[in-house]
Amino acid sequence: MAEKSKSLDLRARMRNALQGGGEKAIEKQKATGKLTARERIIAVLDPKTFHEYDLFVQHAGKDFDMGKKYLPGDGVVTGTGTILGHPVCIYAQDFTVAGGSLGYMHAKKITKIMDHAMKLKVPLIGINDSGGARIQEGVNSLAGYGEIFYRNTQASGVIPQISVILGPCAGGAVYSPALTDFVFVVDKISKMFITGPEVIKTVLGEEISMEALGGARTHAEITGNAHFYAESEMECFGQIKQLVSFIPWNNFKKADPFPPKKPNTRKFKIDDIIPNDPKEPYDVRDLIKAVVDDSDFFEIQELFAANIVIGFARLEGQTVGFVANQPLVLAGVLDVDSSDKAARFIRYCDAFNIPLVTFVDLPGYLPGVEQEHAGVIRHGAKLLYAYSEATVPKITLIVRKAYGGGYIAMCSHHLRADFVFAWPSAEIAVMGPEGAANIIFRKEIQEAKDPNALREAKIAEYKEKFANPYVAAAYGYIDAVIEPAETRHFLTHALSISSNKSVESPKKKHGIPPF
Ligand code: HXC
Repeated sequence: MAEKSKSLDLRARMRNALQGGGEKAIEKQKATGKLTARERIIAVLDPKTFHEYDLFVQHAGKDFDMGKKYLPGDGVVTGTGTILGHPVCIYAQDFTVAGGSLGYMHAKKITKIMDHAMKLKVPLIGINDSGGARIQEGVNSLAGYGEIFYRNTQASGVIPQISVILGPCAGGAVYSPALTDFVFVVDKISKMFITGPEVIKTVLGEEISMEALGGARTHAEITGNAHFYAESEMECFGQIKQLVSFIPWNNFKKADPFPPKKPNTRKFKIDDIIPNDPKEPYDVRDLIKAVVDDSDFFEIQELFAANIVIGFARLEGQTVGFVANQPLVLAGVLDVDSSDKAARFIRYCDAFNIPLVTFVDLPGYLPGVEQEHAGVIRHGAKLLYAYSEATVPKITLIVRKAYGGGYIAMCSHHLRADFVFAWPSAEIAVMGPEGAANIIFRKEIQEAKDPNALREAKIAEYKEKFANPYVAAAYGYIDAVIEPAETRHFLTHALSISSNKSVESPKKKHGIPPF
């Protein structure tokens, strides 16, 4: 009997703790289109796999009458479960409890589950919905954030860290996500900023809405802080599952192999994708889909710096990270944002044993005062650094233009690509034929009887000499000039023979990338 009453007592305590911030607060949460913290965790994980811990943790606040307040679970739900059979550690801040604000014990719960993730070597998923540091708990809240940031940094490159922004995330609540690998946002629900519209108005006199300042679209398109954008929470959870299917549990593992599938070559005809006119654009994603398994390409940061495309796909069942210039946007040039975007992705793939495939078609770096003053030298150097540093298999295909610095930066042999292939349409030169002819034959053109005719003749001469892959191939900078239809075969062969690649980097504590 005594045992039964203890069980009843446990159930009553659980009911009390599971109520979160109570009916009213939950109603308010739902009215804004948001799920509750536990509903979110259950929706992300495989059915019936969620195990919650630290349900009875209580806050440690004493000031401002906090001692009298009961904050169920201290505003955060933590536990373990699986996604597609992969074990994961997870936490979700509960906005219905003190706005999901982070106090001392709230932070302890998060750091405890982070420590578990590191010990178990499994991915960590953080669902953020928080007003930031709990104001009443003062320096203990700040300390809590510091402990989280430290762990995010230690875990970086060891376990995948995934952040989901599902509410107004202010102050400290945005820096932990910024230190993680992938940030997911949802239209109208996600907000991220260091200082909100009120502070901006007070300090600077500028008026801006929360949505325009730090809404989902802003972070997916303009700042690049978000990697995945969804229209609803459920769509976002589907994206997380897809991502988890492509990546390994930790940096000692490879991603799970999937059954190989042929690309949909009826929909994506590789011979028809590149226009005959080298100045005409095309969508490089079609090219990727024409060669990868099931034509399934999982794009990352689709809306940000769209002049470069990054994402995961599979070749013969094995996960591969793709980096490709996008001729549809700014002719595929490299600039500050596209260099940042690609460099970070390359480092992710390298840390997690994911081979890299690079498709090249670019006229070089974007010229202009704006880019120079925005630090295109420093940002562009990140790409050189990331490719040079990466020791995973690196395979490059030059599709069309590979001009100037762009040729070097897009994983040339000189940055230690393992294999560089080129299509017959490849043009590898210091710059495009028009620009080159105008510079090297300027005097002759100016002095000619018919400058236009001579210019055209010189352009044709330059094209004949350099606008092809054979000069580079003659020096061994290209390993094979291949027909488009042979692309998948060459890529999969190169990948399979590189599977035991091993490269010793110089012994050092760490390099100093141009952050
Ligand atoms: C304590 C907080 C809180 C906080 C919200 N709440 N933020 N309690 N500390 N930081 C509480 C509210 O008092 C309220 O409690 C409940 O959460 C819901 O908040 P509302 O304001 O009613 O919700 P909403 O209108 O949706 O506005 C959400 C919000 C707003 C935009 C997040 O609450 C807000 O601006 N909060 C403060 C954000 C902020 O400046 N945080 C500090 C950042 S400094 P009741 O009891 O009424 O339900 C920081 C330092 C770390 O984080 C820096 C590290 C680098």
